[in-house]
Amino acid sequence: MAIFEVDKLSLHYLTRFGQKIHAVTDVSFNMEQGEILGIAGESGCGKSTLVNGLMGLFIPPLYPTSGDVRVGGESLMNRTPEDVRANILSRKVSMIPQGAFNALNPTRKVKDIAADVMAAHIKGVDKKQIYERLKERFDLFGMDTNKVLNSHPIQLTAGERQRSVIGISTLLNPQMVIADEPTSALDVTTQKVVIKMIFDLLEKGIFSTMIFITHELPLLRHVANNIAIMYAGEIVEKGAAEQVVFDPRHPYTKALMGAMLSAEPGQKQRKPTAIEGAPPNLANPITGCRFAERCPQAKPECKRNKQEIRIVGDRQVRCDYAE
Ligand SMILES: Nc1ncnc2c1ncn2[C@@H]1O[C@H](COP(=O)(O)OP(=O)(O)O)[C@@H](O)[C@H]1O
Ligand SMILES: [Mg+2]
Repeated sequence: MAIFEVDKLSLHYLTRFGQKIHAVTDVSFNMEQGEILGIAGESGCGKSTLVNGLMGLFIPPLYPTSGDVRVGGESLMNRTPEDVRANILSRKVSMIPQGAFNALNPTRKVKDIAADVMAAHIKGVDKKQIYERLKERFDLFGMDTNKVLNSHPIQLTAGERQRSVIGISTLLNPQMVIADEPTSALDVTTQKVVIKMIFDLLEKGIFSTMIFITHELPLLRHVANNIAIMYAGEIVEKGAAEQVVFDPRHPYTKALMGAMLSAEPGQKQRKPTAIEGAPPNLANPITGCRFAERCPQAKPECKRNKQEIRIVGDRQVRCDYAE
C-alpha cells in the first residue's frame, strides 16, 4: 500500500505583477513504505517548489494550482501554514533543507532549538526529559554531543550544523523525510559524513521512507530505489534507479547523464557534454514537449504535441518517441 500519494500536482508562483510562474506541472507518483525515491534535474526545474507542495506548505507567492498530496490517506491540501507546522511537519513529513545555516535560529543553542520542536509536539514532557532524549538521539550521530547541543549554530562546523539539522528534523521519527539537496553546500568529505548519517538513521529505523533530491544524478544510484527526473516543472522519466542511470529512455535523461558523466568514478577522463540551450520560460503557456527546443531527436510535431507520461518497458517516460 502506498503511504505517500501525489496526484496530478501543479503549483505556481504569483508575481507582484500578477503573472503566474508554473513551476510544477502535473506531478504524480506513489511511494511505498521503505521506498527511497530520488528526484534529479537541473537547477530551476522545480525541485524545491515541489518539496513545499509535498508538505502542503503554501506560503505566498506559492500557490497550489490543482492536484492532491496524501500521507497515509490524509490530504495535505487546503491547510493553513500554521496547521501544517503543528500537525504535519516533524511527525508526518519532515524536511532536511539545503542550507543548514538558514534552518537554525542563530540566537539559540542547538539543544534549545531541538527542545522547542519536541515540546511543540509532545505534551507534558519536562525540560530534563527532553534533554535526555536529545542526548540519546544525538549520541547516535558520532558527534561530540555535549559540545554540539550546548553550542550556538555559528560555533559549529558546516558538517556539525547539517547533522544537527538532520537530527532535529528526524527527532520525532517522521513517517517520511524529504531531503532537498542536503549535501550541496558541503565539501566532499563532509558530504560523505552527512550521507552516512542519513543512512545510519534509515538503518536504525528512525525513518524508512525518503525522497532524496539532488542535481547530481549519479549520486542517486547509490542512494535511491527509484529515480524521477524533472525538467521544466514536469517529471519526464521515472523508473528503478539503476535503469534510469544506465539505460535512460527520455532524451533529457540521456543528455543529463552525458552532462554528469564526470561524477562517475572511473569516468573522470571523459568530458561531460553540456546541454545546449535553456529550459522554457515557465511564465508562458507551453503547448508541445518542453524539451523539444533542446532535444537532438526532436521532430517537428514535438513542438506542437503535449507529451503525456506513458509506460515504456519498465519505465514511465514523457516522450512519444522514447523506446
Ligand atoms: N518566489 C518565487 N517567485 C517566482 N518564481 C519563483 C520563486 N521561487 C522560485 N521560482 C521559480 O520557480 C522555478 C523553480 O525553482 P526551484 O523550485 O527553486 O527549482 P530547483 O529547486 O529545481 O532549483 C524557477 O524557474 C524559479 O525561478
Ligand atoms: Mg532547489
